[in-house]
Amino acid sequence: MHVGKRGAFIVFEGCDRSGKTTQSRHLSSVLTSKGVDIKQINFPDRTTTIGGMINAYLTNTQDLKDEVIHLLFSANRWECVDSIKKDLLAGTTVICDRYSYSGAAYSAAKGVDFDWCCAPDRGLLEPDAVFYLKANLDELTSRGSYGEERYEKLDFQRKVGEQFDRLYAQRSSYWHLLDASKSLQELQDQIAAVADGVLQQAAEQPLSTIK
Ligand code: TYD
Repeated sequence: MHVGKRGAFIVFEGCDRSGKTTQSRHLSSVLTSKGVDIKQINFPDRTTTIGGMINAYLTNTQDLKDEVIHLLFSANRWECVDSIKKDLLAGTTVICDRYSYSGAAYSAAKGVDFDWCCAPDRGLLEPDAVFYLKANLDELTSRGSYGEERYEKLDFQRKVGEQFDRLYAQRSSYWHLLDASKSLQELQDQIAAVADGVLQQAAEQPLSTIK
């Protein structure tokens, strides 16, 4: 559906198991049912060559230096920038599960310098809105134990959460903080209410890039 107005770029961020995948998919289906043209994507995109290297690292079959995996995650986003831009300009709203902020939060949580972590993503498209599902880590463990992937450990997730909080504090104008411990329904309603305004605003604004 191309009506001459661009689509919105909406990102979901949060720790592992914060519910962002469920919520991003739900928002996609709500907006689709309202007639909005939607594309749902996620990072890492494990389908590309770089994504395959990331997958090998995450599933512990390959070890890489922290800086190397960080740059691969960023390169994986750069591979997609043209296609995201094309979709947005064609009027499609892009809903993205994890983006640059996961890149900075996970690498900084390992002790890599925060500004260094942000640098490779400068120039990528900036989202119109970020829904940050802030999890209470103690409650998250009650949803069952973490999986087998490299980062799925409670102490590490706590550090990641601190980095997300830091990112949120610097970007609260377009980040929407959500309490991940709320019921699915409450979160869905809250997100849907914000999303309508985001779509309207984005349609009137040019795309911007991460500074
Ligand atoms: P993802 O496939 O989204 O896993 P999940 O569905 O469990 O959230 O992401 C895999 C892991 O990669 C996740 O622990 C977050 C991490 N990650 C980074 O460390 N840097 C990044 O840039 C991205 C996008 C993800």
